[in-house]
Amino acid sequence: MKDYVVYQPSTFPEFRVAELESLASLYNIPLDLSHHDNQSPFLVIPLENDDQARQLISRAVMSYGIYELWGIGKTYEELHADVKARSADKFAKYKESSFKFDFKSYHGKQSNRSKIKIIESFGYLEFDGKIDLQNPEETFIVMEEYPYNDKGKSETITNLLFAREIALSQRASGVVEKYDLKKRKYIGTTSFEAELSLVSCNLAQVAPGKIVYDPFAGTGSFLVTAANFGGIPIGSDIDIRMVTGKSKDCNIQSNFEQYGTAGNFVDVLTMDFTHNALRSDLQIDTILCDPPYGVREGLRVLGAKNEDKAAGREKHVYNGETAYLRREFIPPKKPYQLSSLLEDLLQFASERLPIGGRLAFWMPTANDNFEETIIPQHKSLELLHCLEQSFNQWSRRLVVYVKRDESYQGVTSNGLKEKNIKDFRERYFKKFAD
Ligand SMILES: C[S@@+](CC[C@H](N)C(=O)[O-])C[C@H]1O[C@@H](n2cnc3c(N)ncnc32)[C@H](O)[C@@H]1O
Repeated sequence: MKDYVVYQPSTFPEFRVAELESLASLYNIPLDLSHHDNQSPFLVIPLENDDQARQLISRAVMSYGIYELWGIGKTYEELHADVKARSADKFAKYKESSFKFDFKSYHGKQSNRSKIKIIESFGYLEFDGKIDLQNPEETFIVMEEYPYNDKGKSETITNLLFAREIALSQRASGVVEKYDLKKRKYIGTTSFEAELSLVSCNLAQVAPGKIVYDPFAGTGSFLVTAANFGGIPIGSDIDIRMVTGKSKDCNIQSNFEQYGTAGNFVDVLTMDFTHNALRSDLQIDTILCDPPYGVREGLRVLGAKNEDKAAGREKHVYNGETAYLRREFIPPKKPYQLSSLLEDLLQFASERLPIGGRLAFWMPTANDNFEETIIPQHKSLELLHCLEQSFNQWSRRLVVYVKRDESYQGVTSNGLKEKNIKDFRERYFKKFAD
């Protein structure tokens, strides 16, 4: 085993770790996260070799890259001593390679003049290769951590690492910018931001050639990001306007064309999830969604508020045809509770996912009454993650489950229903006052 450093963005620390765990489990890589520190963007992990490091990081969204660790210290003196003690056997291997040095500094930075001095202090490496800033064979990184608010006074550095670049991630190649909603052709008020949509795909373990179903597809944010990782997306939505889009050239299909992944896209259908019409033998590998919670879009299912009135309508005839059998017929809908919808979603996942398949969805919660116990559970789905993105008075949580085999002894529960927690929509519009 060798030590590697993963360099991560400072946002969403919980998501960073969970994403690494998920990718490690996807590729069967044992992962030791004992050095993880929420406050630091540099995470040291032991791995077998560079190939394993490349595999772990290539599709990461919450990491920039992975580097072979050459030394650590709290001061430059300590760092140089550690590089010589730990990595002297590596110096000769890179003696003739073209190379460059780079800096990753957190909460501070060096002036260009002091960077040059620091680079010169690594003279004992005795690299004779050409310095190539554009396309070097090797990149060596000096990683510096300063205490928050010290504005990079070099005497206050708290942690230093020196490492050789092994691989950069999809994030470093600009995947978050590529899927930025501002650049997307077809979006709506419910479209989900690019970064966490991509991360959700990694946590759901969307994989090449595997079918990903979003039952509440809306404008298809999860469908396009799933295709980015090679998934084969299928969506459904109760609202036909979402499915048809704004025009012939501005719809979910045109978004796939924009990203060059139209070949992956199966289709979206207008359908109430709770009256699901997907064939029961259709293999769904992953379910990933953002269920309606009623703030920007209604949570509705097929049915009528007043059953007696609706029964009379069944007899309506239009132009000699039974009205409800006509193609243009728009069926009545009735409001539904989020707690019931989530229960239906877990049940559906337990029936349709293969063993090891994942269900991931975003669930809104009011911050003042959140307890883990309101996260719904199903006896055959193990809860892996419940990760929070916090807003002011409310949060949304990415909840991730894996389908287990019969030997798994889970429990089925619906905390929202049991604790009689009011529907999120109602609390949202009453500004969480009670
Ligand atoms: C939060 S939005 C999802 C937005 C989506 N992630 C996007 O990228 O636009 C929830 C969606 O669920 C749809 N919906 C509401 N009730 C539904 C039901 N019973 N079955 C299927 N879709 C439903 C709404 O029309 C809405 O588009």
